[in-house]
Amino acid sequence: MSVEMMKPVPRPGILDIAAYVPGKEHAPGVARVYKLSSNETPLGASPKAIEAFKAAAGNLERYPDGQAHELREAIASVHGLNPANILCGNGSDELLGLLCHVYLGAGDEGIITEHGFLVYKIQIMGAGATPVVVKEKDHTVDVDAILAAVTDKTKIVFIANPGNPTGTYIPVTEIRRLQAGLPKHVVLVLDAAYAEYVRRNDYEAGIEVVSSNANVVMTRTFSKVYGLAALRVGWMYAPAEIIDALNRVRGPFNMNAPAIAAGAAAIRDQPFVQQAVSFNQMWIEKLTSALEGVGLKVTPSVANFVLIHFPDTDGRRAADADEFLTSRGYILRAVRGYGFPNSLRMSVGPEEANRGVIEALGEFMGRKA
Ligand SMILES: Cc1ncc(COP(=O)(O)O)c(C=O)c1O
Repeated sequence: MSVEMMKPVPRPGILDIAAYVPGKEHAPGVARVYKLSSNETPLGASPKAIEAFKAAAGNLERYPDGQAHELREAIASVHGLNPANILCGNGSDELLGLLCHVYLGAGDEGIITEHGFLVYKIQIMGAGATPVVVKEKDHTVDVDAILAAVTDKTKIVFIANPGNPTGTYIPVTEIRRLQAGLPKHVVLVLDAAYAEYVRRNDYEAGIEVVSSNANVVMTRTFSKVYGLAALRVGWMYAPAEIIDALNRVRGPFNMNAPAIAAGAAAIRDQPFVQQAVSFNQMWIEKLTSALEGVGLKVTPSVANFVLIHFPDTDGRRAADADEFLTSRGYILRAVRGYGFPNSLRMSVGPEEANRGVIEALGEFMGRKA
């Protein structure tokens, strides 16, 4: 027996995966810490969602509803969809993984973009397939580059719209052009984790494109504007055949009961969402102009975070800024792994944190904020 056979060995490729590294949480020795590294909402969850979560604590001995009916129906009624075309997941991350598990195998290719969300690559490789990375243009998804990368082996294409960590988006006309150019058997995944924040007339999260095509799915999350990241609630709107395929392999009780209850209450509280969106819009604009005002470059964002680019000067690079901000209790996200070695991503935080970062970066850049 060879040495390798004396212990369990993962499938080829698994150990080539670089595990996901979440945003930092701690700033050692600093009393007041603001975590601005995971695009969480500063406004918390709707009080109605919190109430529903607490009420669910009374029945913890019971299995949850394996079909998450209450949540699917609430999502369907708010978005005007058929609940049969909705599948909920333990965060949208779970759904991204299930899509790879179901539609990819050894020898297949999945297309992702240069600065795309890292989970796509992890899940493509986890399914034994090969990630094919295409260039973006001005930190924005490039439909022509994606179409040029399609081969006989392509089975899935992932785009985040808006993108993370870029915060840029492509208009629905570009999504339609992408769909029209892909072979009909290729699954196009529109990851719309930040859709609620977008205020642009030419943007659509993807509902209409999913409704009129057999190969397009849209994923959404309750982790951002709904403030339920801790509970792990995501959902997918997809053609019936795709829902059916994923339902066959998912965990039978993949959604826990408090998550189902809180998610349903959260989505019914749309006035709360509107408040969160207005707060975000105001701060995206203020942060962008203030950071530009101190001499930094900021990628224009339609989401709830900004990508800040630092000068290539000793003592002023992203790593220096990261250290400087962390020592003051402001934790931003290093995005080297996303192809931005000299940038940091900052989530819109509470007012005092946003003001604090502006002031600190003004000082860091040697200019008054
Ligand atoms: C583009 C994108 N997709 C998906 C997710 C995952 O969301 P969830 O918390 O629903 O798994 C995130 C979270 O950061 C994200 O940025």
